[in-house]
Amino acid sequence: MPAPGQYLLAQAASEADSPLPVPVYLAAPTRNGFYAAAPLPVAWTPGTSLGLKGPLGKGFRLPPAARRVLLASWSGSPGRVLALLEACHRQGAEVALVAESTPAGIPLSVEILPRATLPEAARWADYAALDIPREQIESILASQPVSDSLRLLSGYAQVFIETSVPCGGLAECGVCAVGTRNGIRLACKDGPVFDLTEISIPDRH
Ligand code: FES
Repeated sequence: MPAPGQYLLAQAASEADSPLPVPVYLAAPTRNGFYAAAPLPVAWTPGTSLGLKGPLGKGFRLPPAARRVLLASWSGSPGRVLALLEACHRQGAEVALVAESTPAGIPLSVEILPRATLPEAARWADYAALDIPREQIESILASQPVSDSLRLLSGYAQVFIETSVPCGGLAECGVCAVGTRNGIRLACKDGPVFDLTEISIPDRH
C-alpha cells in the first residue's frame, strides 16, 4: 500500500515482455486496498492481473499540526494530492484544492478554488502539497503570481514532481533526474515528493 506520493511499479502479466513498468499512485485508500490515481493505461481493464513492486520513493509528510491544507495540482488529474484527504480529515484539517480539473466524488468539505486565488490560498494555508510535471517546473515557478504564492509557501510546502520512473531506482537509469538546490536528484528514490525549498524559486529582482 503506497503512502500519498509514493508509488508501486506495476506491470500487467500479459505485458511481461514490456520493458517499462508503470508507476501507480494512491488516490484514496479502501478497506482492502486502494484506488489508484488517474491516469492508468487504457489497456488495463477490470480483471487485468498486475505484478506490483514497492512501495517506492518518498511521499508527502503531512505535519500533524497542519489545520489548513492547500492541495494544488498542475497535472492532468489532482488524484495524487487528493490522496492526502483522508489524513487531513483524520486530524481535523480544512482542505482547499486548486487544480485544472476536479474529478467527481470530491467531498463537499473540500473547497475548490480557481487558479487566480492561489496567492490568497497560499496566505491561508499552513501546509501545502503541490503536484507539478517536471517539464513545467521552470515555467510554473517563474510565472507570477505563482512564484510569489509559492515563495509564501516555501518552508511548509512539498511538491510532487511528475516524471516517468521506469526503473524505480533499481537500474540508475537517470530518466527521472530533477535539478534541485542540492544538485541532480532522482525522483524515483529521492522523491518523487521534495520539499519546495529544495526546488529553486527564482527571485523577482
Ligand atoms: S527511474 Fe531510473 S534512476 Fe530513477
